[in-house]
Amino acid sequence: MSTNDDSRAITISFDGKEHVFDIDDPKIPDWVEDNKITAGGYPYDKKLKRSDYEEELETLQEELVKLKSHMDKTGERMIIVFEGRDAAGKGGTINVLTDYLNPRETNVVALPKPTETEQGQWYFQRYVKHFPTSGEITIYDRSWYNRGGVEPVMGFCTKEQNEKFLSEVPGFESMITDEGIHFFKFWLNIGRETQLERFHDRRHSKLKYWKLSGIDIIGMSKWDDYTNARDQMIKATHTDNAPWNIVRYNDKRRGRLEVLRHILSKMEYEGKSRKVIGQPNDKIIGQGYDFIE
Ligand code: ADP
Ligand code: AMP
Ligand code: MLT
Repeated sequence: MSTNDDSRAITISFDGKEHVFDIDDPKIPDWVEDNKITAGGYPYDKKLKRSDYEEELETLQEELVKLKSHMDKTGERMIIVFEGRDAAGKGGTINVLTDYLNPRETNVVALPKPTETEQGQWYFQRYVKHFPTSGEITIYDRSWYNRGGVEPVMGFCTKEQNEKFLSEVPGFESMITDEGIHFFKFWLNIGRETQLERFHDRRHSKLKYWKLSGIDIIGMSKWDDYTNARDQMIKATHTDNAPWNIVRYNDKRRGRLEVLRHILSKMEYEGKSRKVIGQPNDKIIGQGYDFIE
């Protein structure tokens, strides 16, 4: 262990041993690097081959373009929520979803911490403000579910606020689906070493260091608190009309393909090719708490 007072190193016990992880050390420990794909029981030990990924991604993106043109004609609306631990891969997934969609009709919403004005409002208000109009898609990179995860874990809300939130969500989301809005929510699930490897990568990258926040650093030692919060949240808010899609995300490539495939498979649109969409990989995507780890 480091004796430096400024050290941000953390110690993790598993396999009967203490393992040290120091985000500031440019050398990544072998136990992190070696387990970044397999952590937490991920069902593959290698990433999907890049060429296979790119080929399938492109055909699914072509289907998305057809779906969006159809929505433009019919005026259908859609809301997609992405949740998951820090570095789960929400941002990259949103990028491949929106690559070929008109940014004027596809809103990506990644809200910062609430302002004082927002803190005085109904909790859901600042999220509702961005709901789609005819033909639009609103994608949330983190959402109202902050009150189920980061807020209780970091102490930004009270236990009562968290409980009230969890009990209100099913009713809130019923209003969305009763309104006829297509509604999808995805939990991107990653293993512990996977998260550490991605944090490390961000810390030492000139392109990505800004993605690593103070909350991420504190969060490194709150893995179990986030696990408990996640479990409670999924159990309380997995409903028939608004089910949680759990996607195993240690390999972002396989994960992204399953997210796109899922949305396409649930939608009806002109020119839909069931052959291109294919079948879900049930080792990667499933619904509800039973599919978590
Ligand atoms: P990101 O995940 O976008 O990198 P952070 O790690 O800084 O952002 O924060 C994680 C989430 O916690 C964000 O949705 C952010 O808005 C929220 N958050 C940060 N600070 C607070 C706070 N004081 N109160 C409520 N939410 C907060
Ligand atoms: P688990 O999901 O806890 O059953 O563990 C799955 C794998 O991750 C096993 O190979 C464990 O050795 C490893 N593991 C468990 N806990 C941790 C941890 N806190 N940090 C790193 N690896 C872990
Ligand atoms: C995440 O899930 O990590 C964040 O949304 C950012 C990203 O990975 O691109």
